[in-house]
Amino acid sequence: MRTEVTIQGLHAALTPVRAARKSIGFVPTMGNLHEGHLKLVQEANQRCDVVVVSIFVNPTQFGAGEDFSSYPRTFEVDSNLLAEVQCDILFAPSVEEIYGSQPQQTTVQVNSLANDLCGNSRPGHFTGVATVVSKLFNIVQPNVALLGEKDYQQLAIIRHLARDLCFDIDVIGIPTVRAENGLALSSRNGYLSPDELALAPAIYATMQQIQQQILTTVDHSKLNFADLAKQGRKTLEAQKFVVDYVEIRNPDLSLADQEGSKWVILVAAKIGKTRLIDNLTVIRPAETLDS
Ligand code: PAF
Repeated sequence: MRTEVTIQGLHAALTPVRAARKSIGFVPTMGNLHEGHLKLVQEANQRCDVVVVSIFVNPTQFGAGEDFSSYPRTFEVDSNLLAEVQCDILFAPSVEEIYGSQPQQTTVQVNSLANDLCGNSRPGHFTGVATVVSKLFNIVQPNVALLGEKDYQQLAIIRHLARDLCFDIDVIGIPTVRAENGLALSSRNGYLSPDELALAPAIYATMQQIQQQILTTVDHSKLNFADLAKQGRKTLEAQKFVVDYVEIRNPDLSLADQEGSKWVILVAAKIGKTRLIDNLTVIRPAETLDS
């Protein structure tokens, strides 16, 4: 595995790859890698000739009082893990390499999608994400980008920006990797105390309960998504979560439509100081659909 820390170095590494018309798969990360990230790299390897992974803790997506300075930076371990899963090029730029020394005048804003759900409690977060991902897409110019479905809203925003800004990149979402107890793998799980870690799987269990309630409601005109979400919120609050939202939406994140056949349950909740997000898709089996 080759490691590059400058844009110029990365371009030099990728020039022969492009000349040989090899496909490039790209996995953007902020490091502190876990199995979920490694699965993205493995998927990228299945689909593309050359795999580039970036590790960049992006300051502009952290709000005041968020965990930018304490975000776990574990470069050596990450680098070894990436070599093991056959990453070809690790791109690990500095903040200055990505943002330069002059103040940025240009940002990428994905309007209504970015001001919903997590955007409500993390103002500016998705502008930071969309801006850095656009920069990384321009720098790496991959054929395929792979992102985890755990960050459902982020994935929707990146798909949108790729389409709106005419990036010729196939954005692929890869299913969430979970621990045996259902907890979605996340770098932020590392902040949890043993007690909090024992509590955290309740998020997945609560989403599963909502999923079951949707699937067992035969008459879909009786589905009350707002009530189901409210019940989910109460279940979590009873277990000492501070709930940001429990929402049931259509797959494109518009308000849930009773006539639909697929929805996504989304949760953001804090345990102690740690904010966790997760989601679960519900698919209405074809036989219960009206003919
Ligand atoms: O999901 C992440 O790790 C980050 O938000 C991303 C996509 C790498 C942008 O900084």
